[in-house]
Amino acid sequence: MNFTGANILSVDQFNRDSIDDIFEVADRMLPYARRQKRTRVLDGAILGNLFFEPSTRTRVSFGTAFNLLGGEVRETTGMESSALAKGESLYDTARVLSSYSDVIAMRHPKSGAVAEFAEGSRVPVINGGDGANEHPTQALLDLYTIKKELAYHGHTVDGMHICMMGDLKFGRTVHSLSRLLALYDNVRFTLISPRELMMPDSVMSVLTNAGHEINVTDQVSGSSDADIVYQTRIQQERFTSPQEADQYRGKFRLNSEIYTKHYKPNTVIMHPLPRDSRAEANELDNDLNQNPNLAIFRQADNGVLIRMALFALTLGVADQVQDYECEVNWFSDKRNV
Ligand code: NCD
Repeated sequence: MNFTGANILSVDQFNRDSIDDIFEVADRMLPYARRQKRTRVLDGAILGNLFFEPSTRTRVSFGTAFNLLGGEVRETTGMESSALAKGESLYDTARVLSSYSDVIAMRHPKSGAVAEFAEGSRVPVINGGDGANEHPTQALLDLYTIKKELAYHGHTVDGMHICMMGDLKFGRTVHSLSRLLALYDNVRFTLISPRELMMPDSVMSVLTNAGHEINVTDQVSGSSDADIVYQTRIQQERFTSPQEADQYRGKFRLNSEIYTKHYKPNTVIMHPLPRDSRAEANELDNDLNQNPNLAIFRQADNGVLIRMALFALTLGVADQVQDYECEVNWFSDKRNV
């Protein structure tokens, strides 16, 4: 895949080779993310970071990734504070903002809105989540994390068993991750959710057509040989009312006791975050915080590497990063992470 100037809108754009290319660049970003070195390769470049839906880590990690490459970030958050609230079309917003920026990252509550925006943009657009549809950068960082965690235990993505749990209907991260995993060989999927929140048919058919084994259930038991358990949040914002979401909150919890009873000892625990830690939900209990298999914060750290790689690739500087390297002159204990 030729990344220079490309939009990143859907995981359907990738094959195994292009994923490997992104991961190879992401690996090379580690010294900069750890503040062992700086690079100014994007000195003078501007990221338009447009988040029309709540976000903390995705928005900040896009911005941090761009800053770590030496670029500057201009940000808009919330629909109500933007001209979209005055009835402006996505096309017009894109035409205008793309002349202020070199690349745009965007999150929007409507499925397909980021692709629509990209049609009016003169610079690459990266999808930071569009409604319940897709979240390609999260899927890439999840897959990057899965590869690394499995390699640590001597396993590969091919032949692995992943258990996805919670709101599989509205959770865009599991939609994009499943589509990416469909590119690998003989992956076993255990999909645990209330019947009303099952994985959409559009994703199921991708998995089935690729020949993967799928087990759909509303029981936590039966995943004792899973390599990965990927927990999700009930996506309250996609329900017609908070009361409707209340029916499902707290149905599938993961805590130390459930983990020990239902999963093998080194099952990797993942969650795209934020985890809903309110008592009525508590989908991923704090009592797992010291468990070395809890990969949630490693996922978030990897998000910066993946987004750095995507910026370097779409702006065509992936091979110049080292040429613009300089020393870090402030104290940083991240050097020894
Ligand atoms: C996810 C999202 O926004 O889809 N969060 C994230 O980007 N890490 C998951 C969620 O909000 O539950």
